[in-house]
Amino acid sequence: MFAPRSVLRGLTLDVGCMEIKRENLIATLGGEEVVARLDSEAKADALEDFLSTELDKILLSTDPFPTVAEVDAKISTRHYRMGAGNLFVATAPGAKVKVLPPMPEKPTLYDFFALRFAPANHVLQSATLAMKNGLPEEIILACLLHDTAQALIKADHGYWAAQLYEPYVPEKTAFAIKYHQALRFFADPAYGYEYPDLYRRLFGEDYVPLPHIRADYEMLKKHPWYEAPRLVTVNDFYSFDPKAKISIDPFREIIGRHFKQPKEGLGNDNSPVAHMWRTIAHPDMAL
Ligand SMILES: [Fe+2]
Ligand SMILES: [Fe+2]
Repeated sequence: MFAPRSVLRGLTLDVGCMEIKRENLIATLGGEEVVARLDSEAKADALEDFLSTELDKILLSTDPFPTVAEVDAKISTRHYRMGAGNLFVATAPGAKVKVLPPMPEKPTLYDFFALRFAPANHVLQSATLAMKNGLPEEIILACLLHDTAQALIKADHGYWAAQLYEPYVPEKTAFAIKYHQALRFFADPAYGYEYPDLYRRLFGEDYVPLPHIRADYEMLKKHPWYEAPRLVTVNDFYSFDPKAKISIDPFREIIGRHFKQPKEGLGNDNSPVAHMWRTIAHPDMAL
């Protein structure tokens, strides 16, 4: 179903704080000689397994959480910014971005999942959980799409994603996608949602969300659709099990019922967001 998995795409969703040491990676793979014999697909798979393990380490780490000042002190140690879209950077030391497979003439949502968002484990697993929990279809669709705009940009990704999908999905789906980002910063015991330790690591333990996030949270608390983005946060599921082969197939009927695929192809339909789809389709355009 999916195109060959690329080295980094999809895996860096929300986990840009990972510090990967090249020597650790090579040692895990069995040393320089073993690595030299692997073909590029085997290397990609091996790196994906390694990153999954590294993410588990971050999630399970008992190290003290950094402060905001310590998080900020890392900025000038990187060759990329944490908010850059996954398609645009290779974050592992020494890694290079990959040549992307071409998009078909009239790309569908499935083509973007297969060729630009893959492996998309995080969103597929979140949507699988939402389906298992018997949530309404528009929320399952929101879970499926909620972080995919991180291929384009990670900073403020909920707002970018909502805009990207607005012309094609039900209003409540776009609403849920947009505001899941803000609600991720606020616990809600009524839904069993706690502030994530991952955010303490990513942002610093003394981090205060930006004013627009706090303002949107205040607005959402009184909004009749509060539950829609809250359910996305509750089903925002991190488990990058590299052995789990998850497919978009179980969601085809929901996509068919609720996603208005433009006949010209995403990016070719002159919608207000067509340029965003084109940028994801052709991230190597120099201008
Ligand atoms: Fe998110
Ligand atoms: Fe997520």
